[in-house]
Amino acid sequence: MSAPVPLIAGNWKMHGLGPALSEARAIAAGAPAAGVRLALCPPSTLVERMSAALAGSAVSVGGQDCHPEVAGAFTGDVSAEMLAEAGARMVILGHSERRATYAESDEIVASKVRAALRAELEPIVCVGETLADREGGRTLDVVTWQVRNSLPQDLSGRAFTVAYEPVWAIGTGLTPSLADIEEVHRAIRDTLRDQFGPAGAEPAILYGGSVKPANAAEILAVPEVGGALVGGASLKAGDFLGIVAGTPGL
Ligand code: PGA
Repeated sequence: MSAPVPLIAGNWKMHGLGPALSEARAIAAGAPAAGVRLALCPPSTLVERMSAALAGSAVSVGGQDCHPEVAGAFTGDVSAEMLAEAGARMVILGHSERRATYAESDEIVASKVRAALRAELEPIVCVGETLADREGGRTLDVVTWQVRNSLPQDLSGRAFTVAYEPVWAIGTGLTPSLADIEEVHRAIRDTLRDQFGPAGAEPAILYGGSVKPANAAEILAVPEVGGALVGGASLKAGDFLGIVAGTPGL
């Protein structure tokens, strides 16, 4: 079974007004022709404009969340179908900021994953332990539990990606040791094989949390690391492309 093509995805979080599209255009202009998949996930308000700006480029556009339902009385929410209509091809789900701030459980995340599949969006499902989990020796239990319960069986045969993002590494400049990253990624791979059989070898498992140009190459070279989910460093084309350049084989 072939190794998945690495994916480097940028999560712009709640950053970005119209002028920021110039960064997205610069990323598209500097994107390698092959050997890596690139995606940018801007705020919902920019999905349609970014999709237009990047049409025909090697960079896909994604959302940062979606509601489980197609439509309804859910003030402030956006459905997977709305993201797809606006040009999104992917959607980040279960990011720790949403799990923490909006009390998103694994069950809610799984319902959003089903919504993404319904709208033919590729889900990027985030999992990761808190500092208390890590210090308490619970990392592998927490992460594999989240994988089992956030990834519904409906994903069998569908394209999806998992992102391992230790909560304590997000936006802090801290990263786990390379050995710790490898240990968690191997545990996620084993869990995926258990859940999905041989097809569990296919999905890329991204690492996320303080990925920068300076540490990208060594992280991306860790066995079972199939790319990166990048927050802060995805806002500037130079930084993002510096991370992309660290993809093994490029
Ligand atoms: P960071 O965020 O790269 O700014 O640490 C990563 C993320 O939250 O996806």
